[in-house]
Amino acid sequence: SVTVVHILITGGAGFIGANFVHQTVEERSDIRVTVLDALTYAGNRASLADLGDRIEFVHGDICDRALVDRLVADADAVVHFAAESHNDNSLNDPWPFVQTNVVGTFALLEAVRRHDVRYHHVSTDEVYGDLELDDPGRFTDTTPYNPSSPYSSTKASSDLLVRAWVRSFGVRATISNCSNNYGPYQHVEKFIPRQITNLIDGVRPRLYGAGRNVRDWIHVDDHNRAVWAILDRGEIGRTYLIGADGELDNRSVIGLILEEFGRDADDFDFVTDRPGHDLRYAIDPTPLRTELGWEPRYRDFRAGLAQTVAWYRAHEDWWRPAKSATEQTYAAQGEQVE
Ligand code: NAD
Ligand code: DAU
Repeated sequence: SVTVVHILITGGAGFIGANFVHQTVEERSDIRVTVLDALTYAGNRASLADLGDRIEFVHGDICDRALVDRLVADADAVVHFAAESHNDNSLNDPWPFVQTNVVGTFALLEAVRRHDVRYHHVSTDEVYGDLELDDPGRFTDTTPYNPSSPYSSTKASSDLLVRAWVRSFGVRATISNCSNNYGPYQHVEKFIPRQITNLIDGVRPRLYGAGRNVRDWIHVDDHNRAVWAILDRGEIGRTYLIGADGELDNRSVIGLILEEFGRDADDFDFVTDRPGHDLRYAIDPTPLRTELGWEPRYRDFRAGLAQTVAWYRAHEDWWRPAKSATEQTYAAQGEQVE
């Protein structure tokens, strides 16, 4: 383990990164925080505005080698969240996914190698592909990689770069592969915030395909506490899977959101399915629990969802600017009510 005095957080203006920055500032106030974020359509400076000068914000690209080298040289740990993160966008235009997720990770790895800085790589369960609905198994750190989409294949590629840099160059790195996050500051393109904000706008929620796809939901704060457990106590070179036993199919999630708004359970529309749509993700988080002593704090999805709905109701100023452009993008990608 390393005593972290100065942490560099990439993608800190995005959903999970912004929650990680808040958690770090609130719970580890002795640590100096620098955020590097390109402020793409998914990055929002407003997500960090309340922190004022308690953090240093650098507006820049992780593919900018000179900038990355300078920032990494000054830090003693890097947590890498920055990515193109949305599957639907990756089907429409994969180019920025290869650039940011693969080339950007490469630039960071070269810098942490040069300056011998501790590195944590934030990745996804989607690298393992999908499971059948009736498969009793869950993903573990020995499940073979089998990604389906341009997004998940670029995340898988970046994980493999990290593994090679550990083995070949002795880079002090760990990897985490987490399941689907929910909570505040999530972009309105993603499933849960899209439906919540649709309902606030009086629009019916939209379910891809038959709605039978299963995701393994975890609250973003539980994900971020697991990242800190790995930074504090994780073994260099290891991959840790993060999940909170939160499997639910999409139709059930829509049902719970509708219930929160006092609407009927069938008050939604089926729309065009996502090409190559992964059926089910499920994480076995045993090593994180038994070896690192991590436990999720959000065990009741309904309660966590109610809190998230309340956050979106109270923060319309935060999500409103992105809403209509997001819906226009879905329409332009050909989404239609079935
Ligand atoms: P997000 O899309 O909300 O945020 C991504 C952030 O990265 C944005 O602030 C964006 O401006 C920034 N960024 C993009 N390209 C950049 C570049 N070239 N240089 C610098 N900054 C750049 O994503 P998220 O949902 O917060 O995901 C964060 C990380 O967690 C990603 O690596 C993702 O693969 C991983 N992850 C996400 C989930 C999930 O459910 N959302 C689950 C597991 C893992
Ligand atoms: O599993 C972790 C991954 O979770 C992360 O790596 C990704 O960055 C993150 O975006 C997320 O990927 P998904 O593709 O699972 O998330 P998304 O929110 O796009 O969709 C969740 C499920 O809901 C999926 O089965 C597709 C479905 N869906 C999505 C939208 C936007 C709908 O039914 N309707 C919708 O409007």
